[in-house]
Amino acid sequence: MPKNIPKDDQNIDLTLRPTSWDEYIGQEKIKGNLKVILEAAKNRGESSDHLLFSGPAGLGKTTLAYLVARETGGLVRTTSGPALEKTGDLAAILTNLSPGEILFIDEAHRINPMIEEVLYPAMEARKLHLVVGKGPSARTLSLDLPPFTLIAATTRENLLSTPLRSRFGATLRLGYYTTEDITKILNRSAKILNVKTTPEAMDLLARASRGTPRVANRLLRRARDFAEVHGEKVIDESAARRTLEMLEIDEAGLEPQDRKLLLTIIEKFNGGPVGINTLAAALAEERGVIEDIYEPFLMSLGFLQRSSAGRIVLPAAYRHLKVKKGDELL
Ligand code: ADE
Repeated sequence: MPKNIPKDDQNIDLTLRPTSWDEYIGQEKIKGNLKVILEAAKNRGESSDHLLFSGPAGLGKTTLAYLVARETGGLVRTTSGPALEKTGDLAAILTNLSPGEILFIDEAHRINPMIEEVLYPAMEARKLHLVVGKGPSARTLSLDLPPFTLIAATTRENLLSTPLRSRFGATLRLGYYTTEDITKILNRSAKILNVKTTPEAMDLLARASRGTPRVANRLLRRARDFAEVHGEKVIDESAARRTLEMLEIDEAGLEPQDRKLLLTIIEKFNGGPVGINTLAAALAEERGVIEDIYEPFLMSLGFLQRSSAGRIVLPAAYRHLKVKKGDELL
């Protein structure tokens, strides 16, 4: 579960999470690929190959892992890269898996290398190698593990070590959703939350949702709060618009921090290229947050480019922000 989301919102997120393939909107290619992989494994009477889900935060990687688990007997054990501190933590989980269980490891790019070493034989040969004792009397114990499927999720596939990456039978890359799909997700969520909406309002929220279901559902909840507080029974275009204004989110989904990033490059670094560390210092923001959260979305809009020399703001961003590049007319 992502950090810094209020508990209440987390519970609502769980309520809104699709529990069947039919309810899961969008990502059709990935759903199709997964269904083939799962059906083939089922027909062979085996556990499915290990799977890697990669893509920006909030696109439904965890949800997909739970849908896979539903197909394979319903059992899923969840952990994350940073939660696995010692090799013993992973050993304890692996030895407690039931046959056919899914092991879901979120933030897989943060698994430490010592733990990866335990994971390799577990993934490849269902073996757990444990070193017992120290010095000359140290011995390696080898334990058989039950059949299981590892599903790892990452927002930063490029940070995964090559040996780990090569041990997955398939990598499924989730991309941002279309506005159409986000609109469908919003309408489904509004129904579950029992709120009345207008198509114009949903279109506005969908366009501001960064192609991300988690963001869309959050905007819907804020619009519902706004309408309730103002005694309005329906989220209409005006309520949606005022909600976005209140949150300082513009019609393309840019938040203050996105605009600050672009304007910093434009104003302080003449539009770039500027190195990521310099940019992080200028914004007083962690490099990882810039790389994981802000940049993928700005790149998907064609507002920003990553080059070997650094980050460059593209003409579409100047037009969106209504600023001129030097003397050029855009
Ligand atoms: N909520 C989060 N992701 C979703 C999806 N892909 N379809 C429907 N609801 C969702």
